[in-house]
Amino acid sequence: MDEVLGSEYATPKGGYRRLILPQPMSLLGTGLPDVETELMAQLGPDTVFMMGDNPALSPMPEKPKLLDFFRRRFTPFTRAHLLQSAMVALKSGMEEKVVLACLLHDIANGALIRVDHGYWGAQLIEPYVSEEVSWAVRHHQALRFFADESVGYKYPDAYIKFFGPEYEPEDYVKRAYETARQHRWYMTSRLITLNDLYSFDPNVTVDPEQFTDVIGRHFRQPKEGLGFDGSPVAHMWRTMIWPNNLL
Ligand SMILES: [Fe+2]
Ligand SMILES: [Fe+2]
Repeated sequence: MDEVLGSEYATPKGGYRRLILPQPMSLLGTGLPDVETELMAQLGPDTVFMMGDNPALSPMPEKPKLLDFFRRRFTPFTRAHLLQSAMVALKSGMEEKVVLACLLHDIANGALIRVDHGYWGAQLIEPYVSEEVSWAVRHHQALRFFADESVGYKYPDAYIKFFGPEYEPEDYVKRAYETARQHRWYMTSRLITLNDLYSFDPNVTVDPEQFTDVIGRHFRQPKEGLGFDGSPVAHMWRTMIWPNNLL
């Protein structure tokens, strides 16, 4: 694993070696070496920290739109999963708000953060979608741990594999579930969890363009581009544009 930490890229422009320091929380508790001191010691006239465009990443347009993040930043696994779950919703004839919620439900995992991903994901999209869609994305995190036989949703087998058969969600997740269960938008969020189950097929490829119209109708893309509209979440989108910036 050591070689992925503090990886270096020589930029053609300026010829600097640019060092990348992993995010603090990606090291906490992992036993992986903390390379902060070591990388600091490497700084010199031809060695600096990464700031701005990392040439190892696909360049983003000046005014990025939602699908630019799908194509140029999201991990292949999350991209495929989001597109597939939205496609399942579309093919089942579900409302467009559900299709969009499925398309966005794990957006935080795409290129930002996995921990509490429903909450981060809801926050990322909050200024651009209806309150119902962001509510549904936030609560799918809790709902996926609890069965609902009325729609044929069982506790996912995958979670037994991921977390072990004895795993019990934390109390805050249980409380979020209890609250969501009583909410008028419960079913929108529940349908996310249902479509989630059928959306991990490695042999299925979905073209993101198929969702251009749904996005156009239900996602308010800022004219300045995501990350540059001065919204309270713009920094979260910028973090995905420049994930390796030191500060
Ligand atoms: Fe999720
Ligand atoms: Fe998911």
